[in-house]
Amino acid sequence: MISQEIYKYFADFVFKKTGIFYPEKDFYRLDSRINTMMKEFRCDTPDDLYQMFLTKKTEQMERFLIDICTNNETYFFRDNKPFDALVNDIIPQLQEIYPNQTIQMWSCASSTGQEPLSIMMSLKEKFGDSLNFSLKATDISSKALKKATDGVYSNLDVQRGLPVQLLVKYFESVENSQWKVKSELSKHVSYSSFNLLTDIFERNKFHVVFCRNVLIYQNPENKQEILSNIYHALKPGGFLVMGAGESLIGTNIQLEQKSLSGCMVFQRPKE
Ligand SMILES: C[S@@+](CC[C@H](N)C(=O)[O-])C[C@H]1O[C@@H](n2cnc3c(N)ncnc32)[C@H](O)[C@@H]1O
Repeated sequence: MISQEIYKYFADFVFKKTGIFYPEKDFYRLDSRINTMMKEFRCDTPDDLYQMFLTKKTEQMERFLIDICTNNETYFFRDNKPFDALVNDIIPQLQEIYPNQTIQMWSCASSTGQEPLSIMMSLKEKFGDSLNFSLKATDISSKALKKATDGVYSNLDVQRGLPVQLLVKYFESVENSQWKVKSELSKHVSYSSFNLLTDIFERNKFHVVFCRNVLIYQNPENKQEILSNIYHALKPGGFLVMGAGESLIGTNIQLEQKSLSGCMVFQRPKE
């Protein structure tokens, strides 16, 4: 039996750290997470776990809780259109505004890496080695980042969205029927931890930011705050790519909405 006090403590903790909100009517959704933590930290009762968090919480415990509360669902070339828009429209437009510059990109909720890898494969396929770009990929979940950094994917992972010709070109088969991304691709991406709610954003830095399927978990205030920070992280003329069906509705962010290759994207006004 988990008391309201314990539910409230963990719901508040997760909200403060990630912005993910468990209203009182959904407290039951914390049950399996509390059970998982009890097993991990060898606690006999929810109250033991609660006392452990109150008195000797460590960074590792915090990280574990964040890992089990985040939804890391992702797959290769998710929704397809953003990757077409990137290579057919966004990059050519940026090359006109910023000729000869290295294109700086950020995948800011990159989960287990399928999104940044899809970006890189799209660029490589379209531009070969002629495009200078760098890609920063970040996430709040250390478990997701570990998998992204290892770059090893199961058969099931690669069957979700990755065309066979790209699989054999950019991945090598390793033990246990798994696939490891080749260094010619992985060398272009740097993975690190970044919390969109609490970490400090770089300003005027990126030509392109992918922020997909993460703001749906945020309340309107947090969404406004994160999008405002992304606005300032973009260079003038830079593009924000959001998830299918995500929009600026409910915010006052002055990004211009454009339809490119059938994909809705958002551009910071050029100065
Ligand atoms: C559903 S996945 C989306 C992954 C990828 N962008 C895609 O569209 O396929 C959402 C990711 O956002 C991350 N996330 C959740 N809250 C976050 C926060 N406050 N800061 C950074 N990342 C966060 C989660 O860990 C998760 O990996």
